[in-house]
Amino acid sequence: MTGPSPSVAARPSGQLRSTTGHARTAEACTMVILGGLGDLTRRKLLPALYSLACDGLLPDQFALLGVGRDSLDDAGYRAILRDALGKSDEVKSVDEPAWTRLSQRIHFIGGDFADEDTYTRMRAKLTDIESARPGGEANRMFYLAVPPSIFEMIVGHLSSSGLAPRTEGPDARPWARVVVEKPFGRSLATAQELNRMVLRLFTECQIYRIDHYLGKETVQNLLVFRFANTILEPLWNRESVANVQITAAETVGVEQRGGYYEEAGVIRDMFQNHLLQLVSLTAMEPPSQMSADAVRDEKVKVLHSIRWLTPETIPAETVRAQYGPGAVDGLPLPAYRDEPNVAKASATPTFAAVRLSIDNWRWSGVPFYLRSGKRLARRSSEIAIQFKRPPVLMFGHETASAIEPNALVIRVQPNEGISLGFELKYPGAKLALTPEIEVGRVAMDFSYTEAFGQAGSPAYETLLLDVLLGDATLFTRSDEVEAAWRVIDPLINYWEENRPDSLPLYAAGSNGPTEADELLQRDGFTWRSL
Ligand code: BG6
Repeated sequence: MTGPSPSVAARPSGQLRSTTGHARTAEACTMVILGGLGDLTRRKLLPALYSLACDGLLPDQFALLGVGRDSLDDAGYRAILRDALGKSDEVKSVDEPAWTRLSQRIHFIGGDFADEDTYTRMRAKLTDIESARPGGEANRMFYLAVPPSIFEMIVGHLSSSGLAPRTEGPDARPWARVVVEKPFGRSLATAQELNRMVLRLFTECQIYRIDHYLGKETVQNLLVFRFANTILEPLWNRESVANVQITAAETVGVEQRGGYYEEAGVIRDMFQNHLLQLVSLTAMEPPSQMSADAVRDEKVKVLHSIRWLTPETIPAETVRAQYGPGAVDGLPLPAYRDEPNVAKASATPTFAAVRLSIDNWRWSGVPFYLRSGKRLARRSSEIAIQFKRPPVLMFGHETASAIEPNALVIRVQPNEGISLGFELKYPGAKLALTPEIEVGRVAMDFSYTEAFGQAGSPAYETLLLDVLLGDATLFTRSDEVEAAWRVIDPLINYWEENRPDSLPLYAAGSNGPTEADELLQRDGFTWRSL
């Protein structure tokens, strides 16, 4: 496939392009990272900020203030961040002049998040930074890169200290925006409580709930792919689609996050957020306009149309499993129960497959199969739209049984792209003399790297830029997060009340448990191979 014309591909340097596509310039601001020495800051936020700086996408009057437990001065913090940048997988090589320019705008204060004095010193530091700006702008982004157990406490302090005042409407200046990482609650009730608390102190347009899947290039592109092309719409419904398969398969295990994962499990970790986001974007109706609220209104409607899972349906519509020992490329891999900080008798699922029904006019009768797991054979996240079989096949029996229905596959990662698979005749077979012909599968394939010469920006770059610009389209609204929990809650409750002594095991490095295959076989379908 050919690439786009240069005028479409090029992004004018020094200008920011928000999700809604309007080039704008971000205003002078300070980004305060609470958890400025943590893993997320080192692995994701810092590389994203550095890349934005290199691309000239940070405002001239940008500053970063890290806040963490250690007592460090600015120079000490800069040295730690420089070291982390050098070790980052996301940055190929560090351009020293670019780093020096960014690092001059980096500051640090140490303190306990529970201590009021930390916020007093934060205020003094912010005032210093802001009063040195020609316009004195006091726009602030507070990024909570901290464990969820201290969200509420920090948000309370940010408000009571006056550091982040409540403002009405997106045009209020100076602005204060609060970015919250997942998980947002651990059930519908806790998410509602958190929303109530946060929205007492701030307005919805000040809160940016991050789901990093929404920052992935292909996920954003779903909106353009679906709504900027007319050929898809007549096919994108129950008339043509047999089923939709959404996969987020990982090769990694729980790594060093055993403690967190024991509490979360795969449903809270991946389904409540990332997978349901993919469902909403795939199934939603066209929004009335490309605005944060119009897009999110349509996504929420999808979540509300998902049929509730019940204790009667859950055993047949869901599968849970845990990885046992296995091997990849001859290297032995431990079982989940042998990972650090995991209970020896843990019943936490590391894999799940779920069949969802969307009860609306577009999707009634079309199953949406979702699966996600750790330690699977291949890393692959994709949305596969499986079309119906032709109503009649006039070829010979063998040919007809070899024919696979068409599939449109949106590859979220890796090798980001879109492909349409269809059946064709191999050259040379003689259709006229025999009803049997040799057929084969071919694909029309679009790959980001081939067409655009790059795979797109890492998710955190896109999302940080959107916060700077005040574009909330790719962030989860309060009603959306609650609607997603409403779908997930019955499943989690049922599973927690019906804990088996041991879960079905799948070998680390395999395609997952056979029970997941049976889930589709009962409906006459099969999973796309990993
Ligand atoms: C995170 C989960 O939200 O997403 C992790 O907590 C998971 O467990 C990760 O590994 C997957 O994201 P990505 O971008 O690596 O596919």
